[in-house]
Amino acid sequence: MKDSVVFLNGKFMPVDEARVPVLDRGVIFGDGVYELVPVYSRVPFRLDEHLARLERSLAAVRIRNPYSRAEWRDIILQLVAKQSFEDQGIYFQVTRGVAKRDHAFPKDAVPTVFVMSNPLVNPPQELVERGVAAVTAVDDRWHRCDIKSTSLLGNCLLRQVSADAGAAETILFRDGKLSEASASNVFVVKQGAILAPAKSNLILPGITYDVVVDLAQGAGLPLQFRDLPEAEVRAADEIWLTSSSKEVLAVVTLDGKRIGDGRPGPVFRRMYGLYQEFKQKVMRAGKERQAA
Ligand SMILES: Cc1ncc(COP(=O)(O)O)c(C=O)c1O
Repeated sequence: MKDSVVFLNGKFMPVDEARVPVLDRGVIFGDGVYELVPVYSRVPFRLDEHLARLERSLAAVRIRNPYSRAEWRDIILQLVAKQSFEDQGIYFQVTRGVAKRDHAFPKDAVPTVFVMSNPLVNPPQELVERGVAAVTAVDDRWHRCDIKSTSLLGNCLLRQVSADAGAAETILFRDGKLSEASASNVFVVKQGAILAPAKSNLILPGITYDVVVDLAQGAGLPLQFRDLPEAEVRAADEIWLTSSSKEVLAVVTLDGKRIGDGRPGPVFRRMYGLYQEFKQKVMRAGKERQAA
């Protein structure tokens, strides 16, 4: 990755040359927001939706958006073209900029923009077919989990709970109800119906969550948004994780106890198939646009 090209404040450069001042508020306070967009065969997946969420995050934390939607798209497509690998995870963040340390916002700081690309690593087929282990924890993060903030200490601490247990994710309950996981949204299946917590300030409005919802609705699968008490989640027939890098992944044990029959269930397999089909369709359309 040493030779990978990144974008920092208007310039493309090798990652080794990219430098941010220590007084950047991203360094001092984690005062910034970010996005991660999956790119398949050099075609970004749901880029507009990610850019729309970035705009919402920036507005929520009152950081000026330095670029128009078209400028963001252009920077990202240029960065994608500069990499040597096809499937990429494009990470971009905007922080409030460099200023003397003071909690209150500086008046004249210029937002710092950093964009990088890493090879996209989706779960290997074996994990998709076998499913993963998850553990649970109390969701003790702040009450603005809808903002995709770079201040991720709460999420890191919670992810480490599962890392320490050798599990893939930590599923979170706030006040006894399912919220999300440390870096994913969570869906549950009960008697054939797909259930998920409604969007609120307590979960990240996942782009993959929206894709899964659209695909379920398009296929006429029963789907309901509602509170999911912890006991109901533990007794679910299926549990899924969704995120841009995990796509849709089945959880087959929770805190060491089997979910359903301990294998990815039929509704998961249906959704996984729909997701892969949709992804291929988006990719083909993107390739045709690029060739035109
Ligand atoms: C806390 C949290 N929830 C949900 C998600 C899933 O969001 P998306 O589907 O947009 O990747 C993420 C992704 O990083 C996350 O960090």
